[in-house]
Amino acid sequence: MTRIRLADPGAVAARWRAEALAGMAKIAESGAFVGGPAVAEAERLAATILGRRGAVGVASGTDALAIALQAAGLRPGELVVVPALTFFATVGAVHLAGGVPYVVDVDDRGLLDPDEAAKAFEEGARFAVPVHLFGNRVATLPGGATLVHDLAQMAGAPPFADVAIGGLSAYPTKVWPAPGDGGFVVGDDLDALQRARHLGSHGHVGSHHHHRVGDHIGRNSRLDALAAAWLTAAADHLPDLVRRRQAIAATYDAALAPSLGTLVRDVGNPVPVYVVLAQGRFERDRLAAHLDACGVDVGPLYPMPLHAQPALAGRCRASATPRAEALCPRWLAVPCHPGLRDDEVGRVADALSSFPRPR
Ligand SMILES: Cc1ncc(COP(=O)(O)O)c(C=O)c1O
Repeated sequence: MTRIRLADPGAVAARWRAEALAGMAKIAESGAFVGGPAVAEAERLAATILGRRGAVGVASGTDALAIALQAAGLRPGELVVVPALTFFATVGAVHLAGGVPYVVDVDDRGLLDPDEAAKAFEEGARFAVPVHLFGNRVATLPGGATLVHDLAQMAGAPPFADVAIGGLSAYPTKVWPAPGDGGFVVGDDLDALQRARHLGSHGHVGSHHHHRVGDHIGRNSRLDALAAAWLTAAADHLPDLVRRRQAIAATYDAALAPSLGTLVRDVGNPVPVYVVLAQGRFERDRLAAHLDACGVDVGPLYPMPLHAQPALAGRCRASATPRAEALCPRWLAVPCHPGLRDDEVGRVADALSSFPRPR
């Protein structure tokens, strides 16, 4: 029995590989490996896909967030409100930008809770990173803080208002995937995006190395022209990729055994991850073993609230996070990507429906 993989970026990219390689060959011939029209086109597409006024290509989604935080004016030592459940990169980026994460609780879909954020703002936090997790949009947060949106998982989602600045990941398993690491600072604040462009290029102001450095020390973080050509070829397929993910998710929704659930998805959610909810840690582990026996690979999701991660011990502030603690032992990711064949989708659905009821 062949195993069904959680992610299969090679199979997904079969749709546009030939066209992408032709674009990459042209760049290799021209020698324009850094910047140039290929990157400009990928940036235009990133802005369009997220419904924003602009985008700046950078080396990863993590860098996109760190640079966006700096471009938004974060100063060393400032508190940045983050949700207790997200990929570690969100807080990694806060540290990279010199901030101190303030970890607060989430709602029942794992999204930053506006009331908890409000309390942190009252305690003096002036920045927050709403993480639009699993393609779902965070509810509007109270005013009083600068927001830097973690849009890492939001390619293909319906655009929404008021995103001055944020970061998108183009990691190969994402909905709009690069052939390696890559990301974009995206947003509607064109001045902040211009600062982000300088910050990703050593803080240089001007078009060439050795020009004047602005008022920030930046880093080298740019989207590769080769990756940009690949992303441009992939962009044509995005609506199709999203529809396929949504169709697979609908099949799983209908198949779930009675003791299983899934996170409620927003209308138009592009399903970057399909999350199965079990009744508790024991049931989740039993489900993982059942899927394994059926030949289905699973992904353990964020295993603990962020502030319980050893690397953050003594390096963040945190409030009580009972909802995060209740959610993270229950969830599990199952394969839901456009590289799956119909028979593989059927096998995953069968495995989800045949999960034996709790004893
Ligand atoms: C929620 C979230 N934030 C940040 C990142 C970081 O993106 P990257 O892996 O491109 O650095 C990811 C990527 O997996 C993510 O899912």
